[in-house]
Amino acid sequence: MTKAVSYKELGLSNTREMFERAMKNQYAVPAYNFNNLEQLQAIIYGCIESKSPVIVQVSKGARSYANSTLLRYMAMGAAEMAREMGSNIPICLHLDHGDSFELCKSCIDNGFSSVMIDGSHLPYDENVALTKQVVEYAHARDVSVEGELGVLAGIEDEVSSAVSHYTHPEQVEDFVKKTGVDSLAISIGTSHGAYKFKVKPGESVPPLRFDILEECEKRIPGFPIVLHGSSSVLPKYVDMINQYGGKMESAVGVPEEQLRKAARSAVCKINIDTDGRMVVTAIVRKVFTENPSEFDPRKYLGPARDELKKMIMDKNRNVLGSADRY
Ligand code: G3H
Ligand code: 13P
Ligand code: ZN
Repeated sequence: MTKAVSYKELGLSNTREMFERAMKNQYAVPAYNFNNLEQLQAIIYGCIESKSPVIVQVSKGARSYANSTLLRYMAMGAAEMAREMGSNIPICLHLDHGDSFELCKSCIDNGFSSVMIDGSHLPYDENVALTKQVVEYAHARDVSVEGELGVLAGIEDEVSSAVSHYTHPEQVEDFVKKTGVDSLAISIGTSHGAYKFKVKPGESVPPLRFDILEECEKRIPGFPIVLHGSSSVLPKYVDMINQYGGKMESAVGVPEEQLRKAARSAVCKINIDTDGRMVVTAIVRKVFTENPSEFDPRKYLGPARDELKKMIMDKNRNVLGSADRY
């Protein structure tokens, strides 16, 4: 087994100062998921160029896909590369949707600077107990912790059951106090993946529940809130995927305008995975359709990476407001 390492030795940052600055200046820090080299390059290059703080996050599945030892050195390499390029942006390596104390501990021991413990599906008291256990281990190592209250709607849920999964604002203060978490993910109508809302052609998607967000903010003023499931499922890439042989007809996401509004509130972290996956898929499909004889991965992953970098810069500048902050 590889020797335990602190994120500080890897040149990474926890989320504390990132969120303080985001809260004070009314923007949100982007949290982009990755599991391979090209995605990481696109995220880091895009955030260096747009001078944005960044959280690179890895799910449990992505961690087993990429290998935890390799990941540690990829993150260290990203931080070192940023410094060599003259950038001072803080880079946080975060575990997305950690599902056990053991997984969070293993990530912390392997150089993560932040972890999410997602006990949102558990009974309230069990969520509190599990989150508290992770916070104790993490804080002793200056690692930040994200907890979650409320369950994001599944796309197959009926509207009525989706409603009952929204965060209950009356729980947030007690949860934050009892667990000691550094940030809290809440459920206000977003969901994971590319099919977030069932809408008929011409219909607009239902607005996010800003009333719930405001109620939460009132109860924990100045406390960093996190939004999961925040891809916009950009029509440009849906169309490109469909044009080049894919099949994603009814894909729909959260309108960027709503995310802009959220970013100006106590929402300090916005999670984006699906949009990045779709950019890569769209470009790879385009290259293969236009040049079926291509077999050098650099020739299709390279253009995918470059387009992903552009999308990231656009998000930072025009949606999250995190550009030009460093
Ligand atoms: O919230 C989930 C993320 O989009 C990661 O998804 O578990 O397929 O890596 P994954
Ligand atoms: P999307 O599927 O909307 O990109 O959400 C990603 C996410 O919340 C990762 O935790
Ligand atoms: Zn999520």
